[in-house]
Amino acid sequence: MVSATDGLTGKVAIVTGASGQIGQVIARDFLEAGSRVAWVGRRQGELESAIDRLSDGRDRSLAVRADLRSEPDVRRMVRAVLKHFGQIDILVNNAAQRGPTAPATQLGLKDWRLVLETNLTGPFLCARECLRHMARRGEGRIINMSSMAGRMAYPLRASYSASKWGLIGLTLTLAQEAGASGIQVNAICPGPVEGPVMSEVIARRARALGVSERKVREQFLRRSALGRMVTAEDVSRLVLFLCSDAGRNITGQAIEVSAGFGLWSGA
Ligand SMILES: NC(=O)c1ccc[n+]([C@@H]2O[C@H](COP(=O)([O-])OP(=O)(O)OC[C@H]3O[C@@H](n4cnc5c(N)ncnc54)[C@H](OP(=O)(O)O)[C@@H]3O)[C@@H](O)[C@H]2O)c1
Repeated sequence: MVSATDGLTGKVAIVTGASGQIGQVIARDFLEAGSRVAWVGRRQGELESAIDRLSDGRDRSLAVRADLRSEPDVRRMVRAVLKHFGQIDILVNNAAQRGPTAPATQLGLKDWRLVLETNLTGPFLCARECLRHMARRGEGRIINMSSMAGRMAYPLRASYSASKWGLIGLTLTLAQEAGASGIQVNAICPGPVEGPVMSEVIARRARALGVSERKVREQFLRRSALGRMVTAEDVSRLVLFLCSDAGRNITGQAIEVSAGFGLWSGA
């Protein structure tokens, strides 16, 4: 009998954006499965407090400050993880910026670049540095956190949507390139995730459209076949499954965990 966390004990996982809503649940769940975890983000204090709050296995956690838009920062981060843990088995490219909620005609180049550099260039840099190490060992798993916004139009969120579509293209290409080295690369596309981030997304969208937050929330829920949002735990369980023995033959996929978001293109 294979369980969805088999094979994770002792593994070393880098989780970027580990101080955020979803990243901290993923990092915590890897620790609970017996893995060792590098918690990565720009704010060291937030990473340390997430570790204190969520981790019984402090000795199996390492907080690494890095701005993932910066090549030297990414290289330093990967070196720090290798120095501390000696290996990297799993990379979860989860960090992201939401960008503005505005039509593309009002989207400034600075905001566009911030989102693309964080959500697409960052995962590329992290994957490139980790792939070199993983290829030498002949194994590794990379999970890229895309979104349902990478599957469909997302009006008022052009930079975010473009970055998440791009991340799926990167995923499929890396999976093909790295398959011969025994490395698996997959993307996950969450639908709206219940919590503070979606509350802010809804509030900003309501302001941009001049409608109530309640109406925007209803619009999101109506588009989901199950009539609900997903949870950070739903997303985390899929990450762990893909990195476990149970996921050993899955690669080059963009898998949705969305409660059936956007199945019907009707009203
Ligand atoms: N929440 C949802 O409804 C939803 C739905 C679909 C997909 N997703 C995806 O799920 C992932 C996690 O989202 P979330 O809701 O947990 O977001 P979040 O709470 O805003 O967390 C984002 C994380 O990214 C880090 N980060 C941002 N810019 C960075 C940079 N330049 N370098 C390093 N770290 C950086 C942030 O930490 P610092 O600010 O300290 O750097 C933070 O830890 C994202 O990829 C998001 O697009 C979320």
